[in-house]
Amino acid sequence: MASPCSEEQSGFCTPFKSFATKAIHVGQEPEQWKSMAVVPPISLSTTFKQHGPGNHTGFEYSRSGNPTRNCLEKAVAALDDAKYCVAFASGMATTVTITHLLKAGEGIICMDDVYGGVNCYFQSIATEFGLDVSFVDCTKLKLLKAALKANTKLVWIETPSNPTMKVVDIQACADLVHEHNKDTLLVVDNTFMSAYFQRPLALGADICMYSATKYMNGHSDVVMGLASVNRDDLYERLKFLQNALGGVPSPFDCFLCNRGLKTLHLRMERHLKNAMTAAKFLEANSRVERVIFPGLPSHPQHEVVKRQCTGCPGMISFYIKGNLEHATTFLKSLKLFAVADSLGGPDSLAELPLIMTHAPVPEKERKVLGITDTLIRLSVGLEDEADIIEDLQQALAAAVSIRHPTSESLKCY
Ligand SMILES: Cc1ncc(COP(=O)(O)O)c(C=O)c1O
Repeated sequence: MASPCSEEQSGFCTPFKSFATKAIHVGQEPEQWKSMAVVPPISLSTTFKQHGPGNHTGFEYSRSGNPTRNCLEKAVAALDDAKYCVAFASGMATTVTITHLLKAGEGIICMDDVYGGVNCYFQSIATEFGLDVSFVDCTKLKLLKAALKANTKLVWIETPSNPTMKVVDIQACADLVHEHNKDTLLVVDNTFMSAYFQRPLALGADICMYSATKYMNGHSDVVMGLASVNRDDLYERLKFLQNALGGVPSPFDCFLCNRGLKTLHLRMERHLKNAMTAAKFLEANSRVERVIFPGLPSHPQHEVVKRQCTGCPGMISFYIKGNLEHATTFLKSLKLFAVADSLGGPDSLAELPLIMTHAPVPEKERKVLGITDTLIRLSVGLEDEADIIEDLQQALAAAVSIRHPTSESLKCY
């Protein structure tokens, strides 16, 4: 399949056509409401009056369908250039619902570096229900090819991955998976990139999912998940499971996320600008061992990024020189960045994956992945660039003021 992107001067692909217009208008048509409201109302009713038994307007009970949720699902589908989108109560509820597409005995291949909660769910819960789960570094297609089995029904990738920012070639993965078995589903967790920077369905994925808690809502005030698809049968099944399993978002949260989408393009451009400056600053700093930011030429899969993305979000991981004490001192010294889980909001956040987001990942796996005591993950927010850099600079200076253990000092103890 030809790449949907044509490279432009920024080094990334050309932005998707009419993205902002769609984000502001699709699913929002005032004509759908008697009041002609320009902003979709929050429809809190759990039930809807029927003209007679079974004779309804399309809505019966709010778990099965809700007018405010409909607006959001239509808008997200348009932004993913998909036929359909289904919204869920969280990213994890989306993961669980998608996994219910499988039956006991069938197999899942999951990218080795994924959000800790997803790793934990597949490893500790899905296996208890008879699913055959394995973890593979999908940046290495040979490894993925070797891992595909007759029972493999789902391949789950996250790109960029969390927290080591590995980038997977979605199209190459899709070709490989579908060549193995056209019915095996390729799911891409698009949480980090958002619909603005990456369109997995256009690259051959079957399902594009999000923790909308992050960039899609973008204001750190909603927990939600989304899944976009093109296939009618997949949509019907996910819609059935959405209702049957019941992991639906509230109408109020749908309203907020729908509102957040209207500025997604502006927010992502600013996240990119701030993160690019921060990543370059960190890379040039002698107190930093290594920076992992997909937008920098030093990133191992930077060429893939240029081919499949229209930009990069505010996510940067880096190894600070020293040990756990240096990492902790850096984090404790931050003034503008808040030490907190999550990402993708206006506020800059920083965390230590080892102890925070990725604590559920078994220690042996963390070691292999490089989730060490000096790996720090930043979610660069929307504040002024100069203030972000100043904060990083002063926190690095505070961290370096701790003495490295020398061979002399080691001898004393
Ligand atoms: C990449 C990614 N996927 C999925 C999730 C889970 O989403 P939620 O917290 O909305 O359930 C997270 C949460 O941090 C995440 O970072």
